[in-house]
Amino acid sequence: MKIGSTRKDYKIKKKIIIKDNNPILTFDYWYKKASKTVSEPNAFCLSTISGNNAESRMMLLKDYGNKFTFFTNIKSRKGSQILKTKKCSMNFWWKEIHQQVRISGNISKLQNKLTMDYFYSRPKESQIAALISNQSRVIKSYDILIKRYKNFIKEYKNKEVPFPSNWVGFEINPLKFEFWQGGEFRLHQRVEFIKVGKKWKKNLLAP
Ligand SMILES: Cc1cc2nc3c(=O)[nH]c(=O)nc-3n(C[C@H](O)[C@H](O)[C@H](O)COP(=O)(O)O)c2cc1C
Repeated sequence: MKIGSTRKDYKIKKKIIIKDNNPILTFDYWYKKASKTVSEPNAFCLSTISGNNAESRMMLLKDYGNKFTFFTNIKSRKGSQILKTKKCSMNFWWKEIHQQVRISGNISKLQNKLTMDYFYSRPKESQIAALISNQSRVIKSYDILIKRYKNFIKEYKNKEVPFPSNWVGFEINPLKFEFWQGGEFRLHQRVEFIKVGKKWKKNLLAP
């Protein structure tokens, strides 16, 4: 099916806003702005490397500052890819405000204590879902999974859910950012920051 006529024009003419020539401060400014209009501003596409291939999936960001944190199962596909390559890339698309942010860098495991604190702050149902799911493994049937979930809900009604050792936090140490602001006639504005030593080098990129 040809879908070439599906076309959305970005009418925003404003100059791209970059804070103090600093990508972390700029991300914070953009994120807070996105939070006012975008329904899940913390949703991002995470890309990892698997041999000669790349794989992407959506994730939810749970903390940001100098590092960017998310949680997952270390035995999932992404988990084993991250452990092997220690590299990844994130992409936020805030379509309501025509903005994209790309971040890539090195990735490592978050401290266990912080991971556990976050795990036990989640609703009990989500804790149990994490406990019973061998994320990314082939399963026989969805019904079997739901049955197992219901049994665990009963079993842990009045007990603390044991912490699943496969459940981890990962934090991305950014080495490159790109801020993209959709513009009229596809004349988008792009600003890239590359980490050189402890400093950020800024470049403007052609759309
Ligand atoms: C909006 C959205 C947010 C998601 N957030 C997470 C998340 O924070 N952690 C997670 O493990 N999976 C999350 N998922 C599921 C992943 O996209 C993916 O299906 C799962 O992690 C398995 O990926 P893998 O097999 O590549 O490891 C999310 C999916 C969507 C659509």
